[in-house]
Amino acid sequence: MFKRLRRVRLNPTLRELVQEHHLRPSDFIYPLFIRHGEGIKNEVASMPGVYQMSLDVALQECEELLALGLSSIILFGIPETKDSIGSEALCEHGIMAQSLRAIKERFPKMFVSVDLCFCEYTDHGHCGIIDPKTQSVDNDATLEILAEQALILAQAGADMIAPSGMMDGMITTLRSALDKAGFVNLPLMSYSTKFASAYYGPFRDVAQSAPSFGDRRTYQQNPANRREAILESLRDEEEGADILMVKPALAYLDIIRDVRERTLLPLAVYNVSGEYAMLKAAQKAGIIDYERVMMETLLSFKRAGADIIITYHAKEAAKLLSI
Ligand code: PBG
Ligand code: ZN
Repeated sequence: MFKRLRRVRLNPTLRELVQEHHLRPSDFIYPLFIRHGEGIKNEVASMPGVYQMSLDVALQECEELLALGLSSIILFGIPETKDSIGSEALCEHGIMAQSLRAIKERFPKMFVSVDLCFCEYTDHGHCGIIDPKTQSVDNDATLEILAEQALILAQAGADMIAPSGMMDGMITTLRSALDKAGFVNLPLMSYSTKFASAYYGPFRDVAQSAPSFGDRRTYQQNPANRREAILESLRDEEEGADILMVKPALAYLDIIRDVRERTLLPLAVYNVSGEYAMLKAAQKAGIIDYERVMMETLLSFKRAGADIIITYHAKEAAKLLSI
């Protein structure tokens, strides 16, 4: 007599009873890209189904999301004008602050996170202030404006702040700035382990945030480094992050698992633009069963140890999950 593992796979109900991981609409955070204007809904060529929207269109979108059981979004802003320090991000009438106020007023139940960074707002496209001597981002000068930006977004009603710029000390700085201003209960979801990845390509078309010179390798992390990846997340935990993140997701499932095993904090993953674009291109070419590949991919993040999935697939996945 030998041991038969197939015994629990024969009956579909039993298969479900022994299923270890599940996807739910409440696992997802859906990214929205908001720009100035009215009636604007521009599809991004590399990311079918993803749009730059004006605020009026984004509000309609929120209604649709809530109807699908998606009540968590993360906002990215596309400013009117860019300059060397990203001034629009530091103005309470900027695109993000304005959008936050409008969305929270109309849909108080929508949980609205904001991406906190400067690359969309600077004319050079880097994630902070450039130090003219090194031509790289000046870490400590950037911390100061990050704190300013965070306070503006907190005052505008953000439910969670998600700093994505990979500056050292950003969590300490933001936590103390928010606490001093009375926002002691506003959570920080840190993009704690963020690689310098070619998978962000399509995002930079949507967010219009590609660097005009150089790359982000002096602040984002080398994809070859596992120990450093773990250290980055653990450091943000020590600094007081409430939720950690690994980004990108698909090529870094090992790192998701590594971080999961070393922290007790909730863990998010960012299923980034290039990952989405690859599946969409394969769907268009008719070479994969798109829906199944999508669900299998999303499930792999849960299995690797993620609690939260930031994904452009959220709407499609939520529709499938409701059937
Ligand atoms: C901004 C930011 C980026 C992404 C999220 N926040 C781009 C970057 O670092 O260049 C990427 C998201 C995606 O590719 O979907 N710092
Ligand atoms: Zn950035």
